[in-house]
Amino acid sequence: MKHLSLKNLGIGLIICLSWNSAMAGDAAAGKAIYDGKGACASCHGLTGAGDGAAAAALNPKPADFTTGSFRLDANGNGTPGEDADLAAVIKKGGGAFGGNAAMPARADFSDDEIASLVAYIRSLKK
Ligand code: HEC
Repeated sequence: MKHLSLKNLGIGLIICLSWNSAMAGDAAAGKAIYDGKGACASCHGLTGAGDGAAAAALNPKPADFTTGSFRLDANGNGTPGEDADLAAVIKKGGGAFGGNAAMPARADFSDDEIASLVAYIRSLKK
């Protein structure tokens, strides 16, 4: 115990707090990705209603985020639409989990970016 100083505890606390906020995701940062380099709006629509320009030709349709209900159960635990499910679908694409392969895989996004997209998608529920 002689190495456990207050300074070490302080650093640990800071690491914990920043880890937490990274995991929680930042909806504003998520919106910037959704509207910008993610090009999510082209299918899911600017308001998340699943009515983007490219949506008409797709079946199953792009998810309507304003309903707050989701159909893919990426981790197979019987509950679709958990944060982990949404994150996995964004990362690996719809086809990886028996959904529409038109939902693209975005393995190029960091876990932080994906957490922010999930936070933004949650905020679109009406
Ligand atoms: C080319 C069109 C297209 C683009 C671009 C697109 N999606 Fe999708 N997305 C879909 C389709 C189609 C589905 C429906 C998949 C299914 O239900 O089989 C879907 C489903 C999803 C789901 C899962 C919904 C559920 O019901 O479980 C999430 C989450 C999602 N998209 C997020 C995103 C995000 C975030 C982006 C941007 C990084 C994005 N999508 C870009 C077409 C697209």
